[in-house]
Amino acid sequence: MAPRSPQAPPADPHLTAGGPADPLLTAGGRADPHLTAGGRADPHLAAGGRPVQAAAPPPPAPRIAGLPAYRPGRSAADARADHGVVDAIKLASNELPWGPVPSVSDALRRQAAEVNRYPDHLARRLRMRLAAELGVPPSRVATGAGAVGLLNQLALAFVSPGDEVVRGEPSFEAYPIFTRLAGGTDVAVPNQDHRLDLDGMAAALTTRTKMVLVANPNNPTGTAVGLDAIADLAGSLPPRALLVVDEAYREFVTDTSAGSALSLAAERSNVVVLRTFSKAHGLAALRVGYAVAHPEVVEALDKVLIPFSVGALGQVAAVASLDAAAEVTSRVAAATAERRRLAAGVTAAGWEIPDPQANFIWLPVGAGAASLARELERSGVVVRPFAGAGVRVTVGTPTDNDRFLAALPPAER
Ligand SMILES: Cc1ncc(COP(=O)(O)O)c(C=O)c1O
Repeated sequence: MAPRSPQAPPADPHLTAGGPADPLLTAGGRADPHLTAGGRADPHLAAGGRPVQAAAPPPPAPRIAGLPAYRPGRSAADARADHGVVDAIKLASNELPWGPVPSVSDALRRQAAEVNRYPDHLARRLRMRLAAELGVPPSRVATGAGAVGLLNQLALAFVSPGDEVVRGEPSFEAYPIFTRLAGGTDVAVPNQDHRLDLDGMAAALTTRTKMVLVANPNNPTGTAVGLDAIADLAGSLPPRALLVVDEAYREFVTDTSAGSALSLAAERSNVVVLRTFSKAHGLAALRVGYAVAHPEVVEALDKVLIPFSVGALGQVAAVASLDAAAEVTSRVAAATAERRRLAAGVTAAGWEIPDPQANFIWLPVGAGAASLARELERSGVVVRPFAGAGVRVTVGTPTDNDRFLAALPPAER
């Protein structure tokens, strides 16, 4: 039995005086402080008699209390359950519609036999390989659990309470969550004509700015901005701030005027480029992303990397996918060809859309977003509405895209 508290309560008043010794009573007839009348454990007392919370658990830290949880896209199963459509398809999460190429599947099968071992925490083989591919020293490459893992690491490593993090609106929904998790202030700059307003972002810089997040192409609008404009923004940053260029969809860019910021990240100390194996490589479930940055930035990112968060399956699949570059490139080409076909079909139905440069298209329907998404979902096509802004539709297989085009109502004129 646990030691008795010095502040043990008196005997239970419900016990009859002079009655037989209750086996649950301690010697001397005083009630065991850990038990209520009837011998049940008192939920208000912990071992030792200290009071504990009854119903509600302890509150989370104040910066977490008002935080919205990240909402992933609805699944085909959700549509089946809600609308009874048996053959619903999901075009809601910007995934590649095809499973891994055969050589990646083989590598995964081989690695599966060794999942009893922890992975290499720093994914060194993958980092070396990426460094060689990208023409940068390995000290400039960090890996993380997807680009979102690296965004979280960036916020943890660089953003202090009171710091400002500038981003576009709408842009990737996870950005403000990471900013606020770190105690930072989210500064949203409205897009202009569905494009990130880099001049507006530059105008929003203050001495408190610690980070600027540029998704290029942007999610959910799919538009890309030019490298010169990004370089200008990098040049106008306060000395304490980092420019993070999130190139999660880079491989799908066909606009030759929209260059990658990798060259900037290789030269400048205040530019970080993020990339991922989730999109073009089709490995979203494996959670592998990487950053190219100044070695001291990489060092800081590694300090806050959750141990072993990039799993061994992800590491070997990523290397195997880099080995299968020709197949990956041809899949990306198939996706961008389908994107063109989708965009043409949508335009033919009377909708105006901004130039898509990622693996999705954006229907800027404003207040009509929820009802359009609902209508499509009733036809078995799950898309992603952004309240009051628009609907994002991921490029799927040719059959999936035909299905979407058939379900899309004509635009109201
Ligand atoms: C702009 C952007 N960055 C990052 C991510 C997340 O990528 P990952 O799967 O590598 O975490 C997404 C995913 O939707 C995205 O749209």
